[in-house]
Amino acid sequence: MQNFEFYNPTRIIFGENTIPKLADHIPTEARVLILFGGASAERNGTLPAVRKALEGRFTREFGGIEANPTFETLMKAVELIREEKLDFLLAVGGGSVIDGTKFVAAAVDFEGDPWSILTTHGANVKAAMPLGTVLTLPATGSEMNSFSVITRQSTREKLAFGSPHVFPRFSVLDPTRTYSLPVRQVANGIVDSFVHIMEQYLTYPADGLAQDRFAEGLLLSLIEIGPKVLKEPENYTLRANFMWIATLALNGIIGVGMPEDWSTHSIGHELTARYDIDHARTLAIVLPSMLRARKDAKRGKLLQYAARVWNLHEGTQDERIEAAIVRTEEFFESLDIPTRLSAYDIGEDAIEPLIGQLEAHGMTALGEYADITPDVSRRVLQMSL
Ligand code: NZQ
Ligand code: ZN
Repeated sequence: MQNFEFYNPTRIIFGENTIPKLADHIPTEARVLILFGGASAERNGTLPAVRKALEGRFTREFGGIEANPTFETLMKAVELIREEKLDFLLAVGGGSVIDGTKFVAAAVDFEGDPWSILTTHGANVKAAMPLGTVLTLPATGSEMNSFSVITRQSTREKLAFGSPHVFPRFSVLDPTRTYSLPVRQVANGIVDSFVHIMEQYLTYPADGLAQDRFAEGLLLSLIEIGPKVLKEPENYTLRANFMWIATLALNGIIGVGMPEDWSTHSIGHELTARYDIDHARTLAIVLPSMLRARKDAKRGKLLQYAARVWNLHEGTQDERIEAAIVRTEEFFESLDIPTRLSAYDIGEDAIEPLIGQLEAHGMTALGEYADITPDVSRRVLQMSL
């Protein structure tokens, strides 16, 4: 196990009817900006519940944050905050609204070009406004981590940043707020959290006994409940488990002291930037090919994954590994998430421009050994056609 520091200051307020507790965690005198996305938060009653919890407080609202939040829209929120001298941010929505709010928090007092927050991946962020969240879509883990992914519309770039300054102060997780999610978004959330676990787990054996068992437990739980979560939208127990698993998948706890491999995410972001494919759907396309392309480097962990997660014990090493990758693909497909580029009518001619984007963003040495060069990424994309 490698040396590590673990820091996660986000308070989780979990359970049915927890939105009224917001009032206990936002200072009474705060000038609050409530940020949200499209119409869903109003329609499903989440925004009305938030307004009620903050009755009598000073609040302003900023809606219209897109799925894959854009720099252009978020800079308008930054202006509003400066004009109205607001001092607390409350994100109400999924990963996009929370990520957007984190960027706004970092950009308000930032000196210099705010896009450089993304190009430096957050290294130049020295402070941020305080923020809290009300989560409506279990998927990204953004509610309990310090990461954010922002798209610049004008250049079709999608880049991530991280900074300890943008951890939410608190996040309200009420599973009943997810009942209104379309099936497509629930399936996305299952696959996104599955791949978050895989990118922290499926590297090489590193003697993190608890981290491995924890990751395997989360994967097994997702496999167990995934199809049921889709079919029974108002089953509280299923939604509660799904919500907490998605948070644990990317709040840092399973990755401590372990090598990580975020190559599938890096390639996936380029697919979203260019083709507007939902984030999770890009991961389902890339991950199986990445595992096949890296079979030798990942052999030890792939065999462990085959045995402990898919209960595969028969056949040669290569047969067990291939069977585990096929099971993974079948799991994604069972949620109606395709695992090939052809499902989106994307062919061979798309690959060189995607490789060009990876190069332009410095994504030329990815993976746990930093040896996923553009040539390897090209092969992975070809295998995903
Ligand atoms: O815009 P509205 O009307 O709110 O609708 C949203 C949106 O269209 C809808 N929705 C959310 N909650 C709902 C609901 N509809 C009905 N009922 C509800 N309760 O769902 C749609 C998708 O929302 P979005 O926030 O975009 O989805 P998700 O949570 O999957 O977030 C995706 C974004 O997070 C980034 C992705 O790249 C992408 O930009 N990621 C962030 C990470 C992080 N911060 O750690 C890590 C991830 O790997 C990921 O990259
Ligand atoms: Zn993700």
